[in-house]
Amino acid sequence: MGARIRQFLLILFINFLFSTAQNDDATYLRALRDDWRNTPPNWDDNTDPCSGWDGIRCRDQRIFSITLANLGLTGTLPGDIGELTELEILDLSYNKGLTGSLTPRIGNLKKLRNLLLVDCGFSGQLPDALGEMESLVFMSLNLNSFTGQIPPSIGNIQNLYWLDLADNQLTGSIPVSNGTTPGLDMLINAKHFHFGGNMLSGPVPEQIFHSNMTLIHLLFENNRLTGSIPDTLGLVRSLEVVRLDRNFLTGDVPSNINDLTRVMEMYLSNNRLTGPVPNLTGLDALNYLDLSNNAFGQSDVPSWFSTLQSLTTLKMNVTNLVGQLPAALFSISQLQSVDLSNNRINGTLNLGSRHSTQLQQVNLQNNEITEFTPSRQTTVEVILAGNPICMESGTRDGFCAPPTNPGSTYSTPPNNCSPVSCSSGQVSSPNCRCSYPYTGNLNFRAPSFSSLGTSSIYEGLRIEMMNFFSMNQLPVESVSLRNPSRNVDDYLVINLQIFPSVEERYNRTGIIDIGFSLSNQTFKPTSIYGTYYFTGAFYDFTGASGEGGKSSNTGVIVGAVVGGCVVVALLVVAGLYATSKKEKTERTTHESSPFALWDENNGSGAVPQLKGTKAFSFEELSKYTNNFSESNNVGNGGYGMVYKGSLPNGQLVAIKRATRGSTQGGLEFKTEIELLSRVHHKNLVSLVGFCFDQGEQMLVYEYIVNGTVKDSLSGRSGFRLDWTRRLRIALGAAKGLQYLHDLADPPIIHRDVKTNNILLDERLVAKVADFGLSKSLGDANRTHVTTQVKGTMGYMDPEYYMTQQLTEKSDVYSFGVVLLELITAKNPIEKGKYIVREVRQAMDKSKELYNLQDVLDPTIGLTTQLKGLERFVDVALRCVQETGDARPTMSDVVKEIESIMELAGLNPNAESASNSAAYDYVSKGSEHPYTNDNLFAYSGDHFSTKLDPM
Ligand SMILES: *[C@@H]1O[C@H](CO)[C@@H](O)[C@H](O)[C@H]1NC(C)=O
Ligand SMILES: *[C@@H]1O[C@H](CO)[C@@H](O)[C@H](O)[C@H]1NC(C)=O
Ligand SMILES: *[C@@H]1O[C@H](CO)[C@@H](O)[C@H](O)[C@H]1NC(C)=O
Ligand SMILES: *[C@@H]1O[C@H](CO)[C@@H](O)[C@H](O)[C@H]1NC(C)=O
Ligand SMILES: *[C@@H]1O[C@H](CO)[C@@H](O)[C@H](O)[C@H]1NC(C)=O
Repeated sequence: MGARIRQFLLILFINFLFSTAQNDDATYLRALRDDWRNTPPNWDDNTDPCSGWDGIRCRDQRIFSITLANLGLTGTLPGDIGELTELEILDLSYNKGLTGSLTPRIGNLKKLRNLLLVDCGFSGQLPDALGEMESLVFMSLNLNSFTGQIPPSIGNIQNLYWLDLADNQLTGSIPVSNGTTPGLDMLINAKHFHFGGNMLSGPVPEQIFHSNMTLIHLLFENNRLTGSIPDTLGLVRSLEVVRLDRNFLTGDVPSNINDLTRVMEMYLSNNRLTGPVPNLTGLDALNYLDLSNNAFGQSDVPSWFSTLQSLTTLKMNVTNLVGQLPAALFSISQLQSVDLSNNRINGTLNLGSRHSTQLQQVNLQNNEITEFTPSRQTTVEVILAGNPICMESGTRDGFCAPPTNPGSTYSTPPNNCSPVSCSSGQVSSPNCRCSYPYTGNLNFRAPSFSSLGTSSIYEGLRIEMMNFFSMNQLPVESVSLRNPSRNVDDYLVINLQIFPSVEERYNRTGIIDIGFSLSNQTFKPTSIYGTYYFTGAFYDFTGASGEGGKSSNTGVIVGAVVGGCVVVALLVVAGLYATSKKEKTERTTHESSPFALWDENNGSGAVPQLKGTKAFSFEELSKYTNNFSESNNVGNGGYGMVYKGSLPNGQLVAIKRATRGSTQGGLEFKTEIELLSRVHHKNLVSLVGFCFDQGEQMLVYEYIVNGTVKDSLSGRSGFRLDWTRRLRIALGAAKGLQYLHDLADPPIIHRDVKTNNILLDERLVAKVADFGLSKSLGDANRTHVTTQVKGTMGYMDPEYYMTQQLTEKSDVYSFGVVLLELITAKNPIEKGKYIVREVRQAMDKSKELYNLQDVLDPTIGLTTQLKGLERFVDVALRCVQETGDARPTMSDVVKEIESIMELAGLNPNAESASNSAAYDYVSKGSEHPYTNDNLFAYSGDHFSTKLDPM
């Protein structure tokens, strides 16, 4: 202690002497550094921390961000941290060598917004002073060894959004306010309570749930909570994930639990719940349900077994069910796994003739099934061991065997190359390049699926990660996902390897920035994966061999050189990067000089006017698509094949390659590219580049991860489109078309509007695609163009078909069909029936929902919640009027959908409705696909500025 005071006085004295030359923050940071080992080598005494120390960012010579994830730091967190009063971000995650208790002086950090201490070695009681950090939005203290109670003072942090205390050794009850002391019930802006894996006890307080709470994720699993589930839980209508499993909860499940209509994952298993099996009728969003191992009284097989249309997983092992299973259960279209073992299900097991194509396992071990006829075609694993049918002597049927362990040895396959053998420590990346990956585990606390064997699940996640890393200009060459498994807490654990893009080995800033993007949840995958946490393994920056010293020296030199000019490091670096990229693009453009070809072919000297569109050579695109290999072929476009490719910077692209016979004249191709490169809108797929080389014509578009609206409506994409999402998709697509009609110069008519041409990005934002063949209106005075009829049956404007005169109103017609498809999920022409006529015939305006219940897509959600559906049908039918004149313009359509959304209580402009004003700027124009859950944390110069390109 004495030493600490002496040090402090010394610091004061030094500051007194150099008060103008030296800033306090630097002094305190040096004090922190002296307490730590393994700090970055460029943290030396001869330089100012604000001049480029790794992980330190300053503003006006004050430190506002310390991000030091995964550096192998050891030491404690001294009270000096409390003097860095301008600090907004503190990320020390994944440094297991940081130990000791959390200093109460941390409460001085009144401006701190993100406190990230994930997976460190901290212990002791959480200080009350945590509650004094009044600006805190994000508190992640998970995976430490904290003990004692949750400080009630945390309830004072008004804007707290994310509270993760999971996987510590916290005890005592969950604190709620009582007039004099604060409590967690006051956190009405919190979306995440992650308290799992502690030793919390006492009843779940009734008071913590009330109608003003806006929680999305309630994770209390694996504690020692007692008492019954309070019926106030049903008041928190925003909930999407509820995990109360692995506690000692007793009593009846409150009957209003089915008010939680947004819940997608619910785990109440491994408690001592009694009373009847809860009635979950109406939980139409529910994907994953686990009620296993409770003490429910004997119940008949519930009727909701066949009505929960989003269900992927039903687990009710030991729940005292009796009676026969309805075959309808197995026809739920996304159903993957059913575990009803150890009940008294009897009679005949009938999977039905049209069971879910995703169904993998039906475990009915130890029931009373007497009859089952396996179908020859099905690959479903049925387990009937311990049923009368398997007890007869001589039964050798496969279904009488005990269950196999449905584990998975999945690992991201090589990207059409042969893995290379690497020197020790290095790993061959999916692109078959040797380097030292940053490794760790992604732990998903409540995924919506149970089947671990579906490779598209991991491939989708990989694509999302790559897109995220490249969008944020993080130095990632590729990522590999391996060995998915469920751990004892039923979390999905996937091993992750992140390969460096620049050198063989990451430098510290690379790890720090990637680590922060994961500790801070800046990377957010789509809903099917649920909420996650990352744990990073130790990363060796230097290497055991001599070569490592070299790389760390380079780090110092680079750091020093860059350091001189960095004030707000990332912005400048981002700026430099952008500039260098631009120069590179220009250089490449000149080198490959495709314009010369235009000149030759057409005698036209005009150079295309291209904004931000890159000219690729044939060799380049060939390389990025593995010689246009079969496995990179992702479809047929309007005029040839579409290939998926990956640019050297990691960006994924879709390349449309015209077949030889369908190339256009050079001039036409040039005109088209000029046109497309001018079109920029967040609801339109943008052109990245083109290739006009060796007789080839190719268009290079951004790759949109979530596929077409058609696929989503047919259930092929694996996520459910509820009414809200459909409204947002309709609005997005309408805005894209409105832009083409009204704002593009010259205006563009799409000519082939259909659900196959509307894509969904990682946030399920709609993007209109394939207007590559759009016919420009050319002269603005002309109201139509005469063309050969093109389009897709079922979407085509009858007037256009008759007159061959194309106007914007033809797109409006097709869009009307899209709107009808959005609510019915039917093909425009199905079994000879035309969707427009079907809807008109079924419609009765005097009745609720216009009497359309029977034609609506059953997965759209509760019919009682389809606010504005009637007006939506009205606008769709106006779009499909016989004559163009009678149809609205796209801008009318946009206005109408916006007003329907307002009626439904949605904000059409801020596409995400975060309650926290602090996040509104981020949420603009970007909706998270599964939640209104915006936790991109930081308003300043870090990731968020780059995050949202819209
Ligand atoms: C509120 O709770 C605190 C701590 O549990 C207790 O000391 C205090 O007396 C309570 N106040 C009221 C008004 O019940
Ligand atoms: C919810 O908020 C309203 C309006 O701010 C307030 O009047 C009411 O008391 C709050 N209810 C609870 C249970 O906190
Ligand atoms: C379950 O709840 C639904 C809707 O609230 C109701 O219609 C149904 O009768 C209930 N079923 C049982 C068995 O109570
Ligand atoms: C079902 O519960 C029993 C006992 O509670 C347990 O032993 C068994 O492993 C569980 N089975 C499954 C498939 O979860
Ligand atoms: C199944 O069990 C129920 C309840 O015990 C009984 O009423 C019913 O008859 C049984 N059905 C068959 C087919 O055995």
